[in-house]
This record gives sequence, structure tokens and C-alpha cells, in this order.
Amino acid sequence: MNYFRYSGDTLACEDVDIERLAQKYGTPLYVYSLGTIKRHYRVFDGAFEGIDHLVCYAIKANPTLALIYLLAKMGAGADIVSKGELLLALKAGIPADRIVFSGVGKTPEEIKAALEVGILMFNVESLSELEVIADVAGRSGKKAPVSFRVNPDVDPKTHPYVATGLKTSKFGIPMGSALEAYKRAMQLPSLEIVGIDCHIGSQLINLGPIKEAMLRLKALLSELKALGTKLRYLDVGGGLGIRYDQEEPPEPSTYAETIQAALRGIESKESAKQTLILEPGRVIVGNAGILVTRVLYTKSQEGKRFVVVDAGMNDLIRPALYGSFQRIEKVKKTGAPVQKADIVGPVCESGDFFAKDREIEGVQEGDLLAIFGAGAYGVSMASNYNMRPKPAQVGVLGKGEALLSKRQTFEELIQDEVVPMALLEEKEGVQP
Ligand code: LLP
Repeated sequence: MNYFRYSGDTLACEDVDIERLAQKYGTPLYVYSLGTIKRHYRVFDGAFEGIDHLVCYAIKANPTLALIYLLAKMGAGADIVSKGELLLALKAGIPADRIVFSGVGKTPEEIKAALEVGILMFNVESLSELEVIADVAGRSGKKAPVSFRVNPDVDPKTHPYVATGLKTSKFGIPMGSALEAYKRAMQLPSLEIVGIDCHIGSQLINLGPIKEAMLRLKALLSELKALGTKLRYLDVGGGLGIRYDQEEPPEPSTYAETIQAALRGIESKESAKQTLILEPGRVIVGNAGILVTRVLYTKSQEGKRFVVVDAGMNDLIRPALYGSFQRIEKVKKTGAPVQKADIVGPVCESGDFFAKDREIEGVQEGDLLAIFGAGAYGVSMASNYNMRPKPAQVGVLGKGEALLSKRQTFEELIQDEVVPMALLEEKEGVQP
């Protein structure tokens, strides 16, 4: 469910014409429906109504400040993976005690920063990291709240790059080592064990693997209880999938029921006071954003038709990186006959495509195209490859629209560069 609709022949985001936005701000342009984000957050959060829970939005999905601000106002916490995301979450108004810190490679500096502001917990991914957290906390006279990210070894049946719950993945600690890890943590006085965490992957469409992971987590929880740990938080990660093409992802309510049903039992026994933590990213913002791009050229060669657009893999890398499907439509439908074409960007790589052999209503040079499902892992994975500036971003709410970030300028792209003259100037007679 999202608020991108054709009104007559023309695509609108809520009550604002996409064509008008493209004219005003130029292309490529990210356009977000803020109403859709609000709705997604409400529906997701509402699915867990009645149980003690906290929705920690996974900032990596889309780190645009205004969007996080919007979610913060609705009560969201944050799932972060770097100091940058920590500072961003705080700047957007998310209270520190609603922030969970995930990721396999937290540096001592990042750990210190998170400790200083008093985050909710560190999701620890290795014993070495545990020791570093204990050390940093000990030296700053603090107690670090920790939980272990355990790897339940289930196949989430998603793209291999975003599957994280298999035992061969770099994430978390194996289930079989969890008891030892908790025992070690119990020996370290600068740590407070507060929870347990798992995240099996992203773009999950099947509930089976989620259920399986929860059941394994539940079994581990009873063993941990026997150790004498008192876990306040049960973090089940993010990963709920969305519809890009023909997928039929579960509704948040079904997802919530599956989790609750699998965990039932521990709730009634030792953990009535346990708070469930969710880390959704894609399901909140994915279908709330589109990338608007203009057709630069069309060409036909060797029996193939190419539509060259002004957005590239640097703006939205998902098709190039994962071979992922993104729906693409003309912003203004003309009724032209459908043609098969490769929709490609200007970047100097054959991998720079948005669609291959895609059937799309005949396009002409100058037409605008909307690439749907670009709200998550679009701008967050954008780069300056080929010295291309990051696109502008606009937010729409009802009839209102506003710039959320402006297009980068050439000066901004090179502002941190230095030309070390003394090093580069060749001196007479000095051999390298
Ligand atoms: N929590 C943790 C620990 C994660 O690693 C992730 C995503 C999330 C939560 C949020 O997952 P979500 O609800 O958004 O699925 N770039 C890829 C997705 C990478 C996901 C990385 N981790 C893509 O474009 O499909």
C-alpha cells in the first residue's frame, strides 16, 4: 500500500504531480511519500499492539534526516551500525535509550560514543568485540548494556547477499557457542547482560524461516534462564519483505502473529517483562520512495532496444548489485505500444542497468520514468562513481512538498580533496 497513483495519465505522489517536481528540482530525483511512511510505521507498530515492544527503524535503509525525524516523532527507536548513524539518530530526535547498535565491526571509538550517550544496548557479534566493549566501558567507569546476536542457522530463502542467518555468514555467534559467550559476559563486571538478538536476513517473504529462528531462540532462552541471566530485551531483527514485482510478502499482522506464536510460552513463564525489539527498514520506507529519471536517448542495435536514462547505478545500485527487480513506469502514459527494452544508465559499466528486456510503454527521448520501490537501500547506497553528484530528494505530504536534500554540486564532490603541491612538483635532479 502506497500513495503513488496515476491521476488520469499522470503519476502523482499523494496530491503532487511528479512531472512538476521533476521540472522544479531536476532529475534524477528521489521522491518520498511521507504519508506512506507514516502509514507503514503505524501499521507495523500496530501489528504488535498489546505486547511490550519497541520498533527500532533500521537507519541503513534510508538515512535521510527528515524521514528519521518523522519516524522519531511517531515514537520510533533506531537500529544503527555506525557512529554516523548514531549521531544522525540523535540529531533526528531519537532518544539514546531507544537505540540499538548492531554490526560486526564496531570500533572502540564508536563503542565509546554510544556508551557516552547511553544507548539501549549493543548487539554483540563476537567474543573479541565483547572484550573490547567491556574494556572501553571499564575505562570510562560505565556499565555497557549488551545482548548477543545469535546466528540460528536457518536459510531465510532470500538473495545470498542479504541472507545473514546461515552458519556460514559472518554475522553473529553460532547458537552452539551462545551459552559460553553469555557465561563469559557474566564474568565481566563492566557489562550488563540485557538481551538476546537475531536477524536472519532481509527481504523475507516466507514466514517459515522466521518461525524456525524464533523457535531456536526460544529454546536457547530457557537454557540461558538456567544460567541465571535476566534478559529484558528480545530483539528479533528486521527483514520483513516488500512487493517489488510478484512477491507476496506477509502482512505485518501475520508477521507479528508468527513471531508471537513461536515465542509463546517464554512470555507466560519467565519473561512477562521482556520487551520485543523489531528492526524494520525496508518495510517502512521501501515502497514509499521512487527514483524519477529522464530518458536521454533511445537506440536500437543488434536487435536490441536501449533506453538511456539520466540516473545510474551510482544513484540506485540494487539491480546492478543483486539483479533485483524494480518496477519502472512512464510518469506520463501516452498509450504508445509496449516495447521491449533495456533501461540503462550513463555509467561506464555494463552492469549499469535498471531493467533488461523489460516491456514498457514506448518511450521517447525527454520522457520521465519512475523507478518504484526505491525508498529503501536507494539513496543509502548511492555513490559518486563517475563523479556523479547524489540526486536531490523531495518529500511529499498531501498537497505539500519540500526539498529534503539538494543535489550535490561539483564543489561539494571535491571539497575534501587536497593537491599536495610539495609532493607532486618534480624537483630538478631528484630521482623518485
Ligand atoms: N537489522 C539488521 C541487523 C540488519 O542487518 C538489517 C539489514 C536490518 C535490521 C533491516 O533489514 P530490513 O528490514 O531493511 O530488511 N542492501 C540490501 C539490503 C541489506 C540489508 C542489510 N541489513 C538491499 O538493497 O536489498
